[in-house]
Amino acid sequence: MNHIFQKGNDQSKPTLLLLHGTGGTERDLLPLAEKIDPEANVLSVRGNILENGMPRFFKRLAEGVFDEEDLTFRTKELNEFLNEAAEKYEFDRNNIIAIGYSNGANIAASLMFHYQDALKAAILHHPMVPRRGIELPNLTGKNVFIAAGSNDPICPAQESEDLKSLLEKAGASVVLHWENMGHQLTYSEVETAEKWYQNFS
Ligand code: MLT
Repeated sequence: MNHIFQKGNDQSKPTLLLLHGTGGTERDLLPLAEKIDPEANVLSVRGNILENGMPRFFKRLAEGVFDEEDLTFRTKELNEFLNEAAEKYEFDRNNIIAIGYSNGANIAASLMFHYQDALKAAILHHPMVPRRGIELPNLTGKNVFIAAGSNDPICPAQESEDLKSLLEKAGASVVLHWENMGHQLTYSEVETAEKWYQNFS
């Protein structure tokens, strides 16, 4: 997968996995990693799907309607890429924290829904429920921060509530933070995510 890897100067820190929104690239979320933890490794990945020229992490049938077969395939592909990247760049595979926005948050959530040890934790900006009706792995000990918009037209508020309760039912600790700036990734939610990160990491 197209990606950027930046080695951090403190190898006891996690590796921050950056996953952009629809139409983004691996450069978009680099400032977020710098804000959350400037000493951590950064692995920023570009989605392998193109929708009318816009990179994404998996196909969709319509706005908010996911192609589940492709989502499952792309989630496996990303999980395997993480295995390979950890070997190649010599970072701890068990200490990856995802930071995703929108479509990137959805594939991060899908990693957690499908693979128990894909991620140690995740910061999900404006996610949806990636899949319904599947049994989640035991996510005890995993931490998730969700930032959502109470008036988000793309990711309805109920999606965030449902995602929180599904993750909690699987054993994860989840913090849900609300903004009211629609689908925008706001500075204030990034600052709240940073405080959350400092408390648990
Ligand atoms: C998705 O397709 O993952 C969601 O609708 C969010 C987005 O538009 O990227």
